[in-house]
Amino acid sequence: MTDSDFVTSTRVFYDTVAEDYAERFRDVLTASPVDRAMLDAFAELVGRGGAVADLGCGPGRVTAYLDSLGLSVFGLDLSASMLAIARREQPGLRFEQGSMLELDMADSSLAGVMSWYSSIHTPVDELPRLFAEFLRVLAPGGHLLIAFQVGDEPKRHDKPFGHDVILDFLRRQPETVVELLEGAGFTLVSRTVREPDPSELTRQAFLIARKPL
Ligand SMILES: C[S@@+](CC[C@H](N)C(=O)[O-])C[C@H]1O[C@@H](n2cnc3c(N)ncnc32)[C@H](O)[C@@H]1O
Repeated sequence: MTDSDFVTSTRVFYDTVAEDYAERFRDVLTASPVDRAMLDAFAELVGRGGAVADLGCGPGRVTAYLDSLGLSVFGLDLSASMLAIARREQPGLRFEQGSMLELDMADSSLAGVMSWYSSIHTPVDELPRLFAEFLRVLAPGGHLLIAFQVGDEPKRHDKPFGHDVILDFLRRQPETVVELLEGAGFTLVSRTVREPDPSELTRQAFLIARKPL
């Protein structure tokens, strides 16, 4: 699969399922204290003031949570339908369309980067390029938070919510992702894995890493 193939199929998938996805996940954070703790820790490490990008923000629910913690956060996503929901539901926040693999942002311009379940459609051999892009836009000392499902085999979502689309959700081992982050130049700050809740099939990983000073 070429670069544009996986990016295009991801965009088409989320454009198709956006409203259903937003409805399904709207209130999930409220019932997820461990996930909120990860976001709280990230927010405290980043501190107030500098810009923070929620890359692959989807409907903006997590962007809004980071905003509620006092961060100067904006969202970016591939999917126009996701962005339309984000702008409708979070009218006070800024959302832009683009690919996190090629960010239209200056070097060292961000205090924080979050990728909350958004790297899960990027093939593993493209992760070095993705992490190099995250590192490029972060200022020295800036922090990255990345969340993903733990596992070895992809989960194929075929006809999600009854729609005629298909996409693989890639699972990873935290050790693999840590190695790739360190290979890109990040320093690991925290590695957390929690057990699945009753609605989940896998353990969930949350890595916080820092761009060295
Ligand atoms: C599983 S959803 C997570 C959305 C959001 N972070 C949340 O937790 O509600 C994955 C999102 O990542 C976006 N995404 C995937 N690859 C992307 C890329 N290369 N650039 C920008 N967004 C991307 C998708 O369009 C989708 O909205």
